[in-house]
Amino acid sequence: MSLAAGTAHRSDWSPGSWRSFPAAQQPDWPDPDALEATIDELRRQPPLVFAGEAATLTEMLAEVAEGRGFLLHAGDCAESFDAFSADAIRDKLKVILQMAVVLVYSTSVPTVKLGRIAGQFAKPRSSPTEMRDGVELPSFRGDIVNDFAFEAAARQPDPSRMLQGYHQAAATLNLLRAFTKGGFAALSKVHSWNLEFVSSSPEGRRYEDLAHEIDRAVNFMAACGIVLDDELQLHQVDFYTSHEALLLGYEEALTRRDSLSGAWFDCSAHLLWIGDRTRQLDGAHVEFLSGVENPIAVKLGPSASADDVTALCERLNPGRQPGRLTLVSRMGASRVREQLPPLLQATRASRHPVVWACDPMHGNTFVHDSGFKTRRFDDIMEELRGFFDVCRQADVWPGGVHVELTGDNVTECLGGSLEVLDGDLERRYETMCDPRLNARQALDLAFGAAELLKD
Ligand code: PEP
Ligand code: CO
Repeated sequence: MSLAAGTAHRSDWSPGSWRSFPAAQQPDWPDPDALEATIDELRRQPPLVFAGEAATLTEMLAEVAEGRGFLLHAGDCAESFDAFSADAIRDKLKVILQMAVVLVYSTSVPTVKLGRIAGQFAKPRSSPTEMRDGVELPSFRGDIVNDFAFEAAARQPDPSRMLQGYHQAAATLNLLRAFTKGGFAALSKVHSWNLEFVSSSPEGRRYEDLAHEIDRAVNFMAACGIVLDDELQLHQVDFYTSHEALLLGYEEALTRRDSLSGAWFDCSAHLLWIGDRTRQLDGAHVEFLSGVENPIAVKLGPSASADDVTALCERLNPGRQPGRLTLVSRMGASRVREQLPPLLQATRASRHPVVWACDPMHGNTFVHDSGFKTRRFDDIMEELRGFFDVCRQADVWPGGVHVELTGDNVTECLGGSLEVLDGDLERRYETMCDPRLNARQALDLAFGAAELLKD
């Protein structure tokens, strides 16, 4: 594929053209000069990913769009500066590798592994301010903008945090590349990805059984004379990064022209997505991502209409390049069966070659009596079932799943096979934003998704 096969090269687009469009969900930066100085400094930093890698991801997603692959898109709701550690990155990667193995081994469908990681910092908020005990402060918008602590100074947006975010993303990506290319992700290590607190659970044991079967298959190949050392696919995995492209100054600064093709790539991650709150057709986020050549995604909540979907496809992928655009449905378990079919119909009728994926998390969040924001594992699975059902009825390939998870033994979502009960939420509720699946629940979901995909 040529790097410039997609949509860029519009004469009226530039990395900064979003600035003349209304941009939703931007922080109220107190000092515009300091903001621009930081953006200039970011412009001088090296790219985090290369154009060719992003273009390869587009090719892999094109396979998904055509029904020959599945997208596993998973990671944190919001990465944190404080909880940044090699162990946390490793454990998150372990869970994603486990989920991918479960999906591939159970279904024989190749799985594209895409992390919400190495740059997933900025958060859209339903309200610009937060009120506690009569005190009103700016909402927390992610560590790349302000500090979580409920204090006036902490909540002031600070552009220098964008540089810290960039450096943390670089270090995270560096470790991910080492893990995925340096032997840790080899199929011979499939047992070692089972985290201690997972291995004793029903799904941990189910995973162990599957890992033994993989060992036997690999040993069988060796006994047949296949030289396994020569098979790169057994020793390395392709792992891609992504985040919501929310802070447009940050994304603009990391957008670079590919020297081979002349096309613009946002080199802050392989794939960027537009959130449900920033997908306005005439808004700055759509304008910005319309001109970069990366694969992109758009989240679609219950307010999305069939016309919105068609218009977004036309605007973001006028060249109808397969793999360029992923649409992520996040309707909620009770709504997906009614809300999604007209949208599936819209992409079919307009012949837009999109990947359809399901985020079964964001439409199922509620505030528990204890005050914690949570999600029920059963609702998450119910939305996934609804997604697979309506895709099948519409003759659309159910192309992927998008989930928020962590490798830590947290108690943020209710349910799962070793149930997190109502009273458990306060035990290990660590997220800075949305409730995440713990590693057991994530593995449980992977087994469930594999069953649905196999059907
Ligand atoms: C998210 O993915 O964390 C998020 C805010 O999603 P959405 O835009 O779908 O609400
Ligand atoms: Co979230």
